[in-house]
Amino acid sequence: MGFDRQQFAAALESVRCRRKALERSPNRQSDTQDLDFSVHLFETLPSTNQKLWELLDAGAGPLTVAIAIQQEAGRGQWGRQWHSPPGGLYLSVALAPNLPAQQSGQLTICSAWGIATILREYDLPVLLKWPNDLVLSGLKLGGILSETRVQQGRITKAVIGVGINLANPVPETGINIQSFLTDLTNPVLSLEMLAAITLVGLMSGYHFWQREGIDTLLPAYANLLTSIGRSVLVDGRPGVVVGVALNGDLRVRLLPKGFAPSSEIYLKPGTISLGYE
Ligand code: BTN
Repeated sequence: MGFDRQQFAAALESVRCRRKALERSPNRQSDTQDLDFSVHLFETLPSTNQKLWELLDAGAGPLTVAIAIQQEAGRGQWGRQWHSPPGGLYLSVALAPNLPAQQSGQLTICSAWGIATILREYDLPVLLKWPNDLVLSGLKLGGILSETRVQQGRITKAVIGVGINLANPVPETGINIQSFLTDLTNPVLSLEMLAAITLVGLMSGYHFWQREGIDTLLPAYANLLTSIGRSVLVDGRPGVVVGVALNGDLRVRLLPKGFAPSSEIYLKPGTISLGYE
């Protein structure tokens, strides 16, 4: 499976047009701007995130994009490896958010929400698993890895990496788009189209967050979360997932136990696994 630049340019145009048409309601401001991506294509890379940091260090600017057909050392969350054989989408985009470092979790939230929202417009009922998983039919369709550089307490540069299973083999807890779609004319089935949809979705999530703020984004993100209302155990104590806090932490209501009354706690990403049922 290769990647055709011309097909990608046409795909980007068609995704933008379709999005703009959907946004053309009277009270809605557009989040789909004409973005000038500078796209770098590679056959094989260790990691598109790593490559993008190298390009940024060499002077590349925001909206630089790295795409690879396969990765040999794809990076996943919590230091895991992201298995990246040909057939999947492996893409990273550079942003320059200039935001307080404490808001870095919100980059993952707006990107995940933007991508899930646009994929839903292409007949893929994608949901989200906190904080960064794209979920389809209860299985992992893809994931997002945000990396940031901070100077004097502010995020000056960010790399948002996205991996989505298109036609690549997946583990038992995973799913790819090809196996889900029965309509073989669905445009998402081409790598160029999936890359265009992902970029437009990610950037519209980012613009929506910048324009409306986290207070408006969070309820929209929570609407797509699979884990709200789910029972969990925190250090042996039963609780229920009730939402996501402004800083991106998971909000869990602990149930009363013995003399301990009910209380709400915030959990950082990586401190609890919500698993795949
Ligand atoms: C996760 O663990 O769920 C996040 C996976 C993110 C993988 C993508 S693939 C493209 C980009 N380059 C990387 O090395 N990782 C991200």
